[in-house]
Amino acid sequence: MNKITIAIDGYSSTGKSTVAKQIAKYLGYVYVDSGAMYRAITYFAMQKGFINNDDFNKEALIYNLPKVKVSFKFNEDLGFAEVYLNDVNIENDIRTLAVSNFVSKVAAVSEVREQLVKQQQQMGENKGVVMDGRDIGTVVFPRAELKLFMTASAEKRALRRYDELIERGDAVSYDDVLKNVQERDYIDSNRKDSPLIKAKDAIEIDNSNLSLDEQFNKILQLAKMTIEGL
Ligand code: DC
Repeated sequence: MNKITIAIDGYSSTGKSTVAKQIAKYLGYVYVDSGAMYRAITYFAMQKGFINNDDFNKEALIYNLPKVKVSFKFNEDLGFAEVYLNDVNIENDIRTLAVSNFVSKVAAVSEVREQLVKQQQQMGENKGVVMDGRDIGTVVFPRAELKLFMTASAEKRALRRYDELIERGDAVSYDDVLKNVQERDYIDSNRKDSPLIKAKDAIEIDNSNLSLDEQFNKILQLAKMTIEGL
């Protein structure tokens, strides 16, 4: 059967990764969480002390970028690939609010984007990939056969993210999470390099009022139609 590339873009915490993982599993495709790659580089910058409170030493990060290796390894038990920084599993370290608070600034650095976009394009060379992010349908795979753009209200998204963080045992407040979601929306949509915008040929899906099953079925149908139409 013909394989396609599925690009899923949208605002933070719109549930892109949940549905991307489900679709990839169903179709036997590779799932790539491109946000995890920006988070990994942010974590690296924090570890090295290039980020301290509100102080971000961008030049030091750019200088050290050649030393950063971001990779994925499939975890059979979890059913998805976890992210590694220089061969160390950092899957759990990159989902904190501390990383979330800085990742948009790191993701606005063109040198970071250049390195990661190249790697993402290589990962999708053979198609059969579902990748989620902010610029997948516009920059990484502008010729993807299926492009989706996910939206939901900021309050709904913050609530989902808050529930996830609480479940992990992180002590966060809903207001802080909502503030982070709104700030990231702003920075991601207004940065100069590859801002978050809907690709002209992307299908918009507002999942504010969709259950996970409804969302999965809707997107699976779109994927099947795209594959059959090739
Ligand atoms: O999907 P996420 O929330 O884990 O992404 C983390 C951040 O990374 C997000 O605020 C914007 C950035 N990002 C990006 O700029 N381009 C991508 N393709 C993916 C994520």
